[in-house]
Amino acid sequence: MNKSPLVIGSDHAAYQLKEKIKIFLVENGIVVEDMGAQSESSVDYPDYGIKVASLVSAGKFDRGILLCGTGLGMSMVANRFSNVRAALCNDLFSAIMSRRHNNSNVLVMGGRVIGDVLAIEIVKAWLETQFEGGRHQARLDKFNGMGKNV
Ligand code: RB5
Repeated sequence: MNKSPLVIGSDHAAYQLKEKIKIFLVENGIVVEDMGAQSESSVDYPDYGIKVASLVSAGKFDRGILLCGTGLGMSMVANRFSNVRAALCNDLFSAIMSRRHNNSNVLVMGGRVIGDVLAIEIVKAWLETQFEGGRHQARLDKFNGMGKNV
């Protein structure tokens, strides 16, 4: 399992899921920096997506996790940042393939789409799966530098 420190963020819709994922990460010896939200009071997902994605884009964290109701808004925000490869994975197969082929560095899930148990299985698989490199790296090189530089 990849044990590098990780940054996490959510909006109100996935606050409860964020808290459960944090417990899983800490139990597995992974340092996690929580950028909020800090309650179920309504907030705007871009504010939290920008915080997490900019830290990954700047290389302050190797990896991040972003959560909102569907995962759609957070993935749209995160993928505007250079060197961020955010993958919306509400199923296990996508999470595994996002690591093997896309070297995803931000995992996005929808707290209103999947249950907590599946979400944690997805996090586990995402942390355990290696990037295959090779032809997949060449494909990533074609767009990695694009996007907003922080
Ligand atoms: C919040 O109501 C909801 O729009 C948000 O969590 C997310 O699903 C956006 O993509």
